[in-house]
Amino acid sequence: MKITLSTLNKMKRDGQKIAMLTCYDATFAAIEAAAGVDILLIGDSLGNVVQGHASTLPVTLEDMIYHTAAVARGAGPALVLADMPFGSSQVSPEKTFENAARLMAAGAEMVKIEGGEVMIETVRFLASRGIPVCAHIGLQPQSVNVYGGYKIQGKSEDEAETLRRDALALQEAGAAMVLMELVPAAVAQTVTEALSIPTIGIGAGAGTDGQVLVLHDMLGLCPGKKRFLRNFMTGSSCIQTAIETYVNAVKSGEFPAAEHCF
Ligand code: KIV
Repeated sequence: MKITLSTLNKMKRDGQKIAMLTCYDATFAAIEAAAGVDILLIGDSLGNVVQGHASTLPVTLEDMIYHTAAVARGAGPALVLADMPFGSSQVSPEKTFENAARLMAAGAEMVKIEGGEVMIETVRFLASRGIPVCAHIGLQPQSVNVYGGYKIQGKSEDEAETLRRDALALQEAGAAMVLMELVPAAVAQTVTEALSIPTIGIGAGAGTDGQVLVLHDMLGLCPGKKRFLRNFMTGSSCIQTAIETYVNAVKSGEFPAAEHCF
């Protein structure tokens, strides 16, 4: 059955975990959908894992439109979520709508925008004009140059409270979902419990309503060890099985385990 926003809201209400995975082409879209992935995220992480850049910053709107269209062709019942790349949402709400509309025309069913309070006006503008928005808070990779590296966010009480307030304000503005990256597990759980919309975590512990990983990372294709990561190819005979194992581990609450959390 087709996964829609209503499905995701019901999953949150019923306590069923949501499995999200990044995806960049039609072949993997079909594999991931058949493995039971609920949401295919065309992440701007494609800048790193597909294009070979050191960050997501060089990814263009045209790149995202190209990959979104490819994923949408293979997505089957999975919901298609596209990242708004650097520079495409840090503009006026009107211009952001124009950019997001191009992703929706290419096959996206929701767009993801990095940013907390600063994005509230934009989220309200898009959500009230037919574009569901997933707000990405915590570590925002497009701001890597501001942080001076990929660092855990929300560690101090003040930071945690800002994160909670941002999430509530984004929900009030009409955000359909909140994604938290590299946030202490306890903080992500508090935010999740405060919201009626679903939350997705990466490096944010087991208390969120769902999980996401970068495809190439969970298949063990990228060198470098990240604490929040598990290589699902270990013990799997093929990619399809590895992705099914990921989905089952998310749905059962087995992943992330304590060793993957901050
Ligand atoms: O671009 C991406 O893959 C992402 C995930 C890390 C959540 O935004």
